[in-house]
Amino acid sequence: MAVWRGKNPARLFAMKDSTPYRERPVTEIAREQECMRAVFAYATPVPFIFEAFGGLGKTAQVMTERFPEVVITAADLDEECVKTYNKLGLAHAICYPMDALDLLKTLKFKEPGLWGASLDFNRFTILDVYGRREGRWKIDLIEAVVERKPTWIQITDSAVRYLHLNYQKYYCQNNIDSYIQTLVEAMTERWGLYRVTHRNYYAASYLLLTLNDISD
Ligand SMILES: C[S@@+](CC[C@H](N)C(=O)[O-])C[C@H]1O[C@@H](n2cnc3c(N)ncnc32)[C@H](O)[C@@H]1O
Repeated sequence: MAVWRGKNPARLFAMKDSTPYRERPVTEIAREQECMRAVFAYATPVPFIFEAFGGLGKTAQVMTERFPEVVITAADLDEECVKTYNKLGLAHAICYPMDALDLLKTLKFKEPGLWGASLDFNRFTILDVYGRREGRWKIDLIEAVVERKPTWIQITDSAVRYLHLNYQKYYCQNNIDSYIQTLVEAMTERWGLYRVTHRNYYAASYLLLTLNDISD
């Protein structure tokens, strides 16, 4: 697996959007898995998960740990990632080298409400929900997932690292709780999604959302 093992933090901030996920530092991947584990602890058991971005299979490992019998069908455009994912040999998980939305469209959902969706975006912020042009494909994907009425959706957001520079554009305060609240309100208004739980580390936030209003 081609992952960088150095400790120089400057290298972290030199990562670009175009940097392949498989080059992400191992320490960062470990933090991501910790957050995922904490978030999926709150997810209702489901027999099936659509995983939009399979990557190296780190999220699939966490989901399989949590739900040992769950069937996971994943996509990733990076063929090296797909190979690494499928080599993990997870009993009921497979990753296809294709676009996430194209894969979703091939799936048949008999009953609404008995499946989960994991959308671990490389780069996603509230600006995509507000409608910025380069985020259109992400919104199309979320909309296609929501239309199929999953029990829950996991979405990864990357605003936290540069929140101090961008919070005014996001219409929130310069703190992560204010950002998450603003993001969830925008998602509730647009798609009827509600927050179940979330976790952050310095580079990303992991949200677990549902279509059912679970507030009192
Ligand atoms: C943050 S990583 C996912 C990491 C993954 N959850 C894991 O545990 O390893 C995002 C992945 O999305 C993939 N990707 C980006 N756009 C895509 C698309 N339209 N369809 C499928 N995969 C895509 C990238 O190749 C990258 O591997």
